[in-house]
Amino acid sequence: MLRSRRKIEIIVVAVFVLCAWILFDANFNNIQEELVQAGVARKPWRYEATYAEQEQKILEQEIAHSGTERETSSTSTTPQHTSTLAQITAVPKPSPLLPDRVVVMAKLPTDDTRWVHTDLQDWRSAIYDIDIETPHNTSTLDPLTNSTLRTLRNKGMEANAYLAYIVQNYNNLPSTIAFIHPHKDGYPAAWHTDNDEHSNAASLRALNINFVQSNGYANLRCVHDPGCPHEVMPFRNPPEDHRTTEAAMADAWRELFNNTDVPHVLATPCCAQFAVSSKQVQKRPLDEYKKYYTWLMETPLKDETSGRVFEYLWHILFGQDPVYCPAYEKCYCDVYNVC
Ligand SMILES: *[C@@H]1O[C@H](CO)[C@@H](O)[C@H](O)[C@H]1NC(C)=O
Ligand SMILES: *[C@@H]1O[C@H](CO)[C@@H](O)[C@H](O)[C@H]1NC(C)=O
Ligand SMILES: *[C@@H]1O[C@H](CO)[C@@H](O)[C@H](O)[C@H]1NC(C)=O
Repeated sequence: MLRSRRKIEIIVVAVFVLCAWILFDANFNNIQEELVQAGVARKPWRYEATYAEQEQKILEQEIAHSGTERETSSTSTTPQHTSTLAQITAVPKPSPLLPDRVVVMAKLPTDDTRWVHTDLQDWRSAIYDIDIETPHNTSTLDPLTNSTLRTLRNKGMEANAYLAYIVQNYNNLPSTIAFIHPHKDGYPAAWHTDNDEHSNAASLRALNINFVQSNGYANLRCVHDPGCPHEVMPFRNPPEDHRTTEAAMADAWRELFNNTDVPHVLATPCCAQFAVSSKQVQKRPLDEYKKYYTWLMETPLKDETSGRVFEYLWHILFGQDPVYCPAYEKCYCDVYNVC
């Protein structure tokens, strides 16, 4: 009784905050738009995650519909989860029997990813092998033009695999794509995964697909530290030596987006584990992702720097503001089916 009263109180407060925020945001946008000359995009690098109400309704129907399809198909004993290779990039059309969601990750030879096939049976997977034996050697297959689950070279950390997946599957994406690290759980390896066991399996099982679809993007981490409220400040004065990502960000932004409107703060909970909708991915043209991939392969920046540049860009690439730090409680309730 007490618990449900408290729940109602929380919901009332949340609805109030949301309304206030929407009103404020609408006002703010109006003011901004008045300030900008007609015909000139306010943020040319941005592809908003807003849907018209009608579109949202259709989307929800689609989700409900595909949900029943999935249930039907999972009762048949197709070999859809047994072969990872067959499932992925070489398949020209998505089979209606495949789950409408995929996990994408980069795997070092030392990573054990068998858990993906046992614990995430209603997900497809795209697991990219990173060659650490010949780190400077280029693979004979290039994800930009070939179907391969090997990265071109060992460069740019997980961003390499994430971008390779988008480029290779852009016209053939399942509705929900989760980009995650290869470790299943445990501390310290998976310290940055939010739940009790730091478990990505638990995380993805609890993922609120409807939120991913309506918001376009969901950071799988809700704990603010590290990352929020102002991790990357490209114009910090004086600069701090250890902040190499921050130092690289302004140039990277200009190169990646051909745009000089570099934000003064970029922030989101750390660690580059997130889920997106295919619709949100496809709001940005394929050529842009190709450009990012080429940039990552060619940049002289160190891996941990170029990888972290993307760590603080993913939310922006997928329609969020440069500072995306939703309150922990709200984030957790939105992203996971636990409230
Ligand atoms: C790079 O790969 C090629 C072909 O796979 C191999 O012959 C060559 O020895 C490799 N180079 C290095 C430096 O490992
Ligand atoms: C990889 O892509 C290139 C460019 O399209 C093509 O010439 C080459 O034959 C492909 N390699 C394989 C093994 O498919
Ligand atoms: C970059 O932006 C400038 C000015 O908006 C434009 O003229 C130029 O064509 C763009 N370059 C690329 C590669 O998109």
